[in-house]
Amino acid sequence: MMRKLSFKMITDTEYLLNELSHQISTDLLIDLSLLLENIVESIKKATAIKNVNLILFKEGRTQVVIHGENTFITRKDIINTVKYFDKGEIAVLDRHEVTDASIINEMKRLEMFFIFPIFEERKLTGLLTLGKSRRGMRLRAENLEQLMLIANQISSAMAKAELLQEKLQMERKMYENEKLSSLGRLSTSVAHEVKNPLSSIKAIVQVLKEDSINESKTQKSLSIIVEEIDRLTKVVNQLLVFAKPQMDCKSTVKINDVINKVLVVLRHEAKMNNVNIYLNIQNDLPIITVDEGSLNEVFFNLIHNAIQAMSEGGKLTISMSYDQQDDYITTVFENTGPEISDEDMGKIFEPFYTTKQMGTGLGLAIVKKKLEELRGMIKVKSENSSTKFTVKIPSSEGVLVG
Ligand SMILES: Nc1ncnc2c1ncn2[C@@H]1O[C@H](COP(=O)(O)OP(=O)(O)OP(=O)(O)O)[C@@H](O)[C@H]1O
Ligand SMILES: [Mg+2]
Repeated sequence: MMRKLSFKMITDTEYLLNELSHQISTDLLIDLSLLLENIVESIKKATAIKNVNLILFKEGRTQVVIHGENTFITRKDIINTVKYFDKGEIAVLDRHEVTDASIINEMKRLEMFFIFPIFEERKLTGLLTLGKSRRGMRLRAENLEQLMLIANQISSAMAKAELLQEKLQMERKMYENEKLSSLGRLSTSVAHEVKNPLSSIKAIVQVLKEDSINESKTQKSLSIIVEEIDRLTKVVNQLLVFAKPQMDCKSTVKINDVINKVLVVLRHEAKMNNVNIYLNIQNDLPIITVDEGSLNEVFFNLIHNAIQAMSEGGKLTISMSYDQQDDYITTVFENTGPEISDEDMGKIFEPFYTTKQMGTGLGLAIVKKKLEELRGMIKVKSENSSTKFTVKIPSSEGVLVG
């Protein structure tokens, strides 16, 4: 009875490992981490070993990601094992056969009996580790070969998934660009159509307002109409800014001068909102050659948003510095006030997304587009009652931003 049972287990192990091998090679790789979890679970099932771990190195090995039981493992715990495989050993490490005491110690401490290396283009990118087998259930040489094959398949699956991810990201970016450029084309034609009628309507309403000076109800309604016309005019103007093709009207500018000019326009609104603005600008910023209008749009929208976010008053700090090494001028806009929720964070750069009654939702979409034209980039962080927009602009031409 016992012999029959273990024979069945052996064939099961072989069969299940084969199945897993097949599954890895045919998986669509849409969700890599799910596949990796599945691999660990399937190996556990096939080998009846409880302690199975998939240890993956990330970012030049500074990070270790574990799928499996021993989630506490750090790089330090496996330093000698990694050194061993770094020499190019591609076979399984079997604790019964290891002679190096430092490796035996590591395997003992982590209760590992077999370690399979995972290589990608001859670089060790991970380890598949197995603990103690159940009594009466030893892994056979065939199983070890199958597991080595699985370790190889994990490596190619990860490489393929990475490529797929890059491709998806590129497609997403192309789709977004296409969406934005058609919005740009549409905006220009619609905006011009709408602009003239809007100004005639406003002129007529203003005449009506003057005529009905004694009728307070009519006055109120007409004021609302004027407000709405102003808002629509703002949308139309913003759409035109958004859609304006980049023209080669570059000039040499001192980037801090652009900030100062924007502040002249916005200081009054800041004062009305009880917002104090602090400037922290490095002395020897380089002079840059850019389209000043685009830069102006970027700074104006970020500062305006910060002031509007602090309706109860607050502090806006603008810092500017230049890093010679990467040749970027970094400007940080940090304001106190309510945070942007995680949900909103994903939407704030979308055209027409606004949480303001009179907003167009085009401000940050313009910022993003203009920064792309300037070959710059933007990052946002919002936590602990503060919001920080970081803008980086290359100081000289020819810097490519990925
Ligand atoms: N500094 C900030 N602090 C908190 N929320 C912000 C900040 N900047 C932007 N937001 C959020 O992002 C949304 C989108 O901003 P965006 O500039 O695109 O449009 P808007 O400011 O609403 O409209 P408009 O720019 O036409 O006035 C805002 O409605 C606001 O909710
Ligand atoms: Mg705005």
